[in-house]
Amino acid sequence: MHDTLLLFGATGDLAQRYLFPSLLHLLRDRLLPADFRVVAIGRTEHDDQGFRDWLRGRIQSGEDRNSAAIDDLLGRIHYHALDLQDIDGVAAALSQYADRPAVSYLSTPPNLFEPACRGLKAAGLLEAPSRLVLEKPIGHDLASARAIDATLKSALDESRIFRIDHYLGKAPVQNLLALRFGNTLLEAVWQHRWIESVDIVVAETAGVDGREGYYADYGALRDMVQNHVLQLLALIAMEPPAALDADSIRDEKRKVLRALRPMTVADAANDSVRGRYVDGVVDGKAAKGFGKDYEVETFVALRAWIDNWRWAGVPFRLVTGKRMPSRATEVIVNFKPVTHWVFDRPDKAHTTPNRLRMRLQPEETIELTLMGSLAAPEWGATELEPMPLDLSMLPPKRRIAYERLMIDALKGDQTLFVRDDEVEAAWRWIDSISDAWRSAATPIGEYPAGSWGPPDAAAFLPNTLPVNGGRK
Ligand code: BG6
Repeated sequence: MHDTLLLFGATGDLAQRYLFPSLLHLLRDRLLPADFRVVAIGRTEHDDQGFRDWLRGRIQSGEDRNSAAIDDLLGRIHYHALDLQDIDGVAAALSQYADRPAVSYLSTPPNLFEPACRGLKAAGLLEAPSRLVLEKPIGHDLASARAIDATLKSALDESRIFRIDHYLGKAPVQNLLALRFGNTLLEAVWQHRWIESVDIVVAETAGVDGREGYYADYGALRDMVQNHVLQLLALIAMEPPAALDADSIRDEKRKVLRALRPMTVADAANDSVRGRYVDGVVDGKAAKGFGKDYEVETFVALRAWIDNWRWAGVPFRLVTGKRMPSRATEVIVNFKPVTHWVFDRPDKAHTTPNRLRMRLQPEETIELTLMGSLAAPEWGATELEPMPLDLSMLPPKRRIAYERLMIDALKGDQTLFVRDDEVEAAWRWIDSISDAWRSAATPIGEYPAGSWGPPDAAAFLPNTLPVNGGRK
C-alpha cells in the first residue's frame, strides 16, 4: 500500500466534507500504513501549522475537534500553497516527496488537470508505481475528455490512472452486484423476456448551492447522468463478468454503455424532459430558484434504450433532479405480468406485476413485491394481493464512499474506478442528447423547488415516489 497522498484542492469543499473526514476515519480504524503522510495543496497561503488550524476548524466529520484522532491526522499533513499553472514551482515544491511511491489526487476543476500533471511529472511523482486519482467531471464532452486523456497518457499509463465516481464507493451500489450475481432467482429473469422496464432515480433535496459557475456549464445531464446514473445503469444492465477483477467488470460495463442508443432529434421530445427549479419550499423552508439566466437544467428525465440481446425493447427511465421534495436514490425493476392469468380477483387488468425495488439512499432497503393470497377457503374465491417482501440492510458501519475509494487507490485496485473507454462511451451518448436538445430546441420547463420536476416529467416517475400526495 502506498503511504504518501498528495491532495490537490485541499481547501475545497469536497476536501472538508468528505476527503479529510475519510482519511480521519481510516486512520482511526488503523486501515492506513504507519508512516502515512498527506501533502495538502491549495491556493490559499498557509504554513503547515496555519493549514492544520484552519482544517481543524472546518473538517466536517462529527468528531470532537480536539480529539486524538484529529491530532493524529493533522500531524501527518504538510501544506503547500501553489499555483498549478506554474509547472516549475510545483515541481520545485513537491519533488521532495518523490522519495516514496505516491498517490496524487486531483480534486480540482478539469482545466487544471493538464498543468497539474505536467508539474507532477517534472517532480518525479508520476513515475511507476506512483498513481494519479482524478475527480469528475472528466471533460465537458467527448472531445474535451479525449484531450484530457491524451495529457494523462503522456505522463502515465491507464493502469495507474484512477477516475473516481464516488457512487461506486457506496456499499449499497456494490450490493447491486451481490444481488444480481449471487441469486439464481434474479439471474434467471434478468432480461427482456421477463422485465418490462427499469427505473433509476437520483433525487436530491439539495440545490445548486454555491456552485452556480460550475453548474451553469454542466447541468444535471453532465453533472449526474454522465457519471453516477450511467454507472448505476451499467451495473444493472451488464452481462455477468467471468470474474470480479477490475477489467472483467469494466469490460462488461463498457459494452453496455456502448450499446446505448444515441438520442435523435426526433426522439428528444418523447424521450427526454428538462427542468429548472424556481422559488419554492423544500423541507418546510423557502428555497430560492436557480436563476433564469442559466440556460441549463437542474432536472432531467430520459428514456434510454440499450440495443443488445438482453435488453431489446426494455425502457430504462433515468430521472435526476435537485430541490426535489425528498432525497431518494432508487433502482426499480418492473417485471412483466405472468403469462396467463387464472384468477377472478383481481381480474387480469388489475394485477400488480412483481417489482424489485432497491433503495440506496437515504436508507438501504430492498423490497420484492410478490402476489399472494391470504383468503380463507370458505370465502370461495382466491383473492390475490401484492405482498412486499422487505429487507432492511443495516450495514455494521456506514462509511463515506470515499473511504473505500481512497483505500483502493492506495492499494492499487482499479475495480471501483472508471476506465478511459467507459468515460468515452458515456460521453458519446451524453453528447447525442445535448446535440438533440440543441437541434430540437428542447425547452427547459420550470418547477417549484420542492416538487417532482416539471409537469411533463410525470410519465417518467416511478409510482414508488410519493408523487401527488403519496401513492406507494
Ligand atoms: C456530485 C454532484 O458528483 O454528486 C453533485 O456533482 C451531487 O451535484 C452529488 O449533489 C450527489 O452525491 P450524493 O453522494 O450526495 O448522492
